[in-house]
Amino acid sequence: MALNILLLSFLASYPILSSVVAADSDFTLYAYGTDINGLELFFADGNAQVGDISTAATSNVSNVYFTLDRGELLANPNLTSTRTFRPSFNSTWSNLELNVPVDDDSSNSISFTQNFISNETGKWRFYGPSLLFDTSSGQLISLFFAKPAATTGLFDLVWDLSKAEQEENPDAKPVALRNIAPTSG
Ligand SMILES: *[C@@H]1O[C@H](CO)[C@@H](O)[C@H](O)[C@H]1NC(C)=O
Ligand SMILES: *[C@@H]1O[C@H](CO)[C@@H](O)[C@H](O)[C@H]1NC(C)=O
Ligand SMILES: *[C@@H]1O[C@H](CO)[C@@H](O)[C@H](O)[C@H]1NC(C)=O
Ligand SMILES: *[C@@H]1O[C@H](CO)[C@@H](O)[C@H](O)[C@H]1NC(C)=O
Repeated sequence: MALNILLLSFLASYPILSSVVAADSDFTLYAYGTDINGLELFFADGNAQVGDISTAATSNVSNVYFTLDRGELLANPNLTSTRTFRPSFNSTWSNLELNVPVDDDSSNSISFTQNFISNETGKWRFYGPSLLFDTSSGQLISLFFAKPAATTGLFDLVWDLSKAEQEENPDAKPVALRNIAPTSG
């Protein structure tokens, strides 16, 4: 299965010594994949998008930083981000959790919610710089895709596209999420 191949290939790109390490401080997440070289994850109307936030079409957008707390990913607006482009917008929310969609969520959206919601029990963890979901059955999975949004250069971050959904969205690309910024740009 293509997703497993992706997972293996990016796991293989880190030395085994890096093992599974906790990111114990605040961090920003970036998406990496084919032609996607470290696009920053941001909050867009309750869902996760990646790309240049200054081009976002929706008004309720915010740069976010994360804290990994006992396997849960807590998000808060990054009010000091130099990329924040609408100083007048109100980031009234705090401590929302990054969620993988529940099974019957046809949108596949990765959302920010008050509580952790998933049909998969497990924990977020890092393998080197890569964010993985550690399922209760002990599998480390990464089923992130970047699906082009209406605005060119922006992508909706989605989870676990089926084969049929991938065929319907041929421009959606598998991505890995890492807590390191791209070296250039
Ligand atoms: C907030 O954004 C700025 C860049 O604009 C970055 O330097 C800083 O590390 C971010 N904060 C966190 C906690 O990631
Ligand atoms: C932000 O909130 C303040 C106080 O509630 C309000 O006066 C202001 O109009 C809001 N700004 C925007 C852009 O919504
Ligand atoms: C933006 O989204 C957050 C989180 O859902 C919500 O609490 C807040 O009220 C929204 N802000 C506006 C201006 O709609
Ligand atoms: C949700 O559960 C179904 C089976 O009920 C499974 O096929 C699917 O992979 C699960 N989704 C995630 C994101 O784990």
